[in-house]
Amino acid sequence: MTHFRYQNGELHAEAVPLSRIAERHGTPCYVYSRAALTGAYRAFDAAFAGTDHLVCYAVKANSTLAVLNLFARLGSGFDIVSGGEMQRVLAAGGDPRKVVFSGVGKSAEEMRQALSAGILCFNVESEGELLRLERVAAQAGRTATVSVRVNPDVDPRTHPYIATGLKQNKFGVPCRDAPGLYRKARELRHVSVAGIGCHIGSQLTEVAPFAAALDRVLELADRLQAEGIALGHVDVGGGLGIRYRDESPPAFDEYARVLTGRLGRRALKLVLEPGRALVGHAGILLTRVEYLKHGTEKNFAVVDAAMNDLMRPALYEAYHEVLAVSGGSGGGREYEIVGPVCESGDFLAHARTLALREGDLLAIMAAGAYGMSMSSNYNTRPRAAEVMVDGALAHLVRERETVSELMAREILLP
Ligand code: LLP
Repeated sequence: MTHFRYQNGELHAEAVPLSRIAERHGTPCYVYSRAALTGAYRAFDAAFAGTDHLVCYAVKANSTLAVLNLFARLGSGFDIVSGGEMQRVLAAGGDPRKVVFSGVGKSAEEMRQALSAGILCFNVESEGELLRLERVAAQAGRTATVSVRVNPDVDPRTHPYIATGLKQNKFGVPCRDAPGLYRKARELRHVSVAGIGCHIGSQLTEVAPFAAALDRVLELADRLQAEGIALGHVDVGGGLGIRYRDESPPAFDEYARVLTGRLGRRALKLVLEPGRALVGHAGILLTRVEYLKHGTEKNFAVVDAAMNDLMRPALYEAYHEVLAVSGGSGGGREYEIVGPVCESGDFLAHARTLALREGDLLAIMAAGAYGMSMSSNYNTRPRAAEVMVDGALAHLVRERETVSELMAREILLP
């Protein structure tokens, strides 16, 4: 069920007309639906109800404090990839004992922070990382709980920039090397082995690669158990795709059925790291048409949002549906939806037929995941405001940045 719908010819977020948000908070502006976030989390969690599991929302998909706080209130754990994300989780009231720490390049300082917060598990991606973690934990007088992220060499059939589980990718430890790393970990005094995991990519639209990856990980887990290396959990990562255009990704229930079926009767807790699937459809990017340019070959709608606000189209040629907030009168022309940034890669959408006038509002749909969290200040553009709608209420959850904030840490030469 979508929480962004037309009512009386105007697009609303839950019960709030988007035009009202634009008037009050300006554009570009990210707008989220609290009901959509809650609904997605609850449905995902419920799909695994029959299995011992922990949902660790992947913070990178949308790290806005209000979003993290909402998930924390719903009981979610978190998957983090930096010390910054750790601090966000704590600031949002997340439970550190439900935090897993992923990523190939954890610094010693990030390890210290996470150890002192008391996180659930470090997802270790190399021998060097394991040895560094041992040293840091020894200095801190603590024990680090670890899981090795293996690279199962499975093709996720997604965009190459977001495929992570192929042997040519930088992520994880090859299956072949994993047992040796576990044996090494067992010898370390400040490391305790807790699990095994993988993450093969993002925006997957089929279940088969998830199943193949999990099979490889479980085969390893069985071998380790037979050697006396006991594991408590298996982390299947994130990656479940959403429908942006005409994809038909597996439903939560189907995804859960396949994973839990593979797990069988093994006494392993299932850890899940969904990002996009929980937030993607819960947010839109609201933008206003500045100019219409009718060129000799193409028509351009120049809007006030740009690649710095939503990078996905420029970076992955990603498709996002574009809707006219005031319904439109039918007809129209084919437009390139572009931003004010000085690059031809600055587009939000190609060839969309819309009836537009200057000043109209557009909604870039399914922008809740990897929208705000990947935004930048390129062209000295302050980052957008964010609003969370809850029924008939619209809460400002992040003020628009100011240019003086952007310049605040800069120093002129003497
Ligand atoms: N766990 C790990 C270790 C990850 O690296 C990721 C995403 C996730 C979980 C969450 O994946 P999700 O459920 O959201 O697919 N910027 C790209 C996506 C990059 C994904 C990176 N890793 C995009 O806009 O499509």
